[in-house]
Amino acid sequence: MYLYFRSDEHQTMRLLEIDLLNFRNYESLHLVPDAGLNLITGTNAQGKTNLLEAIYLLATGRPLRAGKEEELIRWGAEEAKVHARIHRQQSLDVEVEACLSRNHPRVMMVDGQVHRAATALGQFNVVIFSAMDLEVVRGQPADRRRYLDVEISMLSPAYGRALAGYRRALEQRNRLLKSIRESGGAITPSLIDLLDAWDEQLVRYGSSVILARERFISALCPLASAAHAELSEGREMLDIRYAPAVDGVQGEWEQVAHCFREQLHKVREEELRRGTTLVGPQRDDLLLFVDGKEARTYASQGQQRTVMLSLKRAEFDLTLQERQEPPIVLLDDVMSDLDDLRRAQLLRMALRGAQAFITATSAETFPQEILAAARMYRVESGRIEVLNEGNATRPDTRYSG
Ligand SMILES: Nc1ncnc2c1ncn2[C@@H]1O[C@H](COP(=O)(O)OP(=O)(O)OP(=O)(O)O)[C@@H](O)[C@H]1O
Ligand SMILES: [Mg+2]
Repeated sequence: MYLYFRSDEHQTMRLLEIDLLNFRNYESLHLVPDAGLNLITGTNAQGKTNLLEAIYLLATGRPLRAGKEEELIRWGAEEAKVHARIHRQQSLDVEVEACLSRNHPRVMMVDGQVHRAATALGQFNVVIFSAMDLEVVRGQPADRRRYLDVEISMLSPAYGRALAGYRRALEQRNRLLKSIRESGGAITPSLIDLLDAWDEQLVRYGSSVILARERFISALCPLASAAHAELSEGREMLDIRYAPAVDGVQGEWEQVAHCFREQLHKVREEELRRGTTLVGPQRDDLLLFVDGKEARTYASQGQQRTVMLSLKRAEFDLTLQERQEPPIVLLDDVMSDLDDLRRAQLLRMALRGAQAFITATSAETFPQEILAAARMYRVESGRIEVLNEGNATRPDTRYSG
């Protein structure tokens, strides 16, 4: 069974403080959260999800909701900022900042230094539970690739760099293929050299992307299967498989690169005709099977939800494995949708020594043990008020704002 940490033993990865400026409906916020459970209640449209989104943005370098990034900036404001100080047990504390502007691309900073791969930071980890998660199970391959990218980036900054490099190369290569097609398809030796050069860039970054995805899924699968067996009380079997667009990838980097290069070669004629790149990790998928059948098409809504919870549990366990400390848990208004077993599972995870931010429209659905341990907040029109101090002692309260 799980080890229950007493809340005064919280020394793990956590937000020490967070500041928002013109982010969504927050004009300005300074919050020093509890090291353990933070329970944020408020009626609809007050800023609960917005707060979690700010934390998510710093961890993943991506907005939580689809849409234009500009939507994160408070209406009427020109710029938005999210800044946080994060404690990590296994490395030094770090400051992470996102600056958004209506006129410039977003800038992410780590300890005051501009971070190049703006898509991925990997400075701290979160596991988020929200209504949007189900898209991973029932959505399109693009939703699952996004999921993989976010998860792997949080565990490995090198992945973020490879992904950014791959995207740049893919975009340039597609542009070249398109221009060849539009100019009537005449291909000169110098164009062939240029294409070859872009192939090498694709292979160089793409093989790292493929390999990282393969390894992540291999590590996640047994953890998710175990979680699923527990949640379904042994009745169902979850299996997760990587479906790479490059056939037959396995082994080390050189073998993957070889495979990728060969297949690019094979489809080149077709690519020239169609004016776009046809193989590569931009066409990968992640397959989820419940008892051997694809969850996307065959699982019931309840089963899909169980698959999602299992994935989340696995993310938590994998972070613990790889980072030797638990991720920050973000639960966005999901408690009321769950049955008792799943609710208990989820809360148990939040109680396993992790810092957690839990939102709900009311505190009524929460068990007494949670209410007793949590620091409680009320959010109203982008303002947050602390309702109690919670029971957890805060090892790091030197800062007061
Ligand atoms: N860029 C923005 N500027 C100002 N307000 C915004 C912006 N983007 C969203 N909002 C507003 O923020 C409010 C709160 O959103 P949020 O999603 O955090 O609500 P919530 O408390 O999670 O509500 P619910 O319980 O319905 O999920 C909404 O009324 C929304 O219109
Ligand atoms: Mg919400």
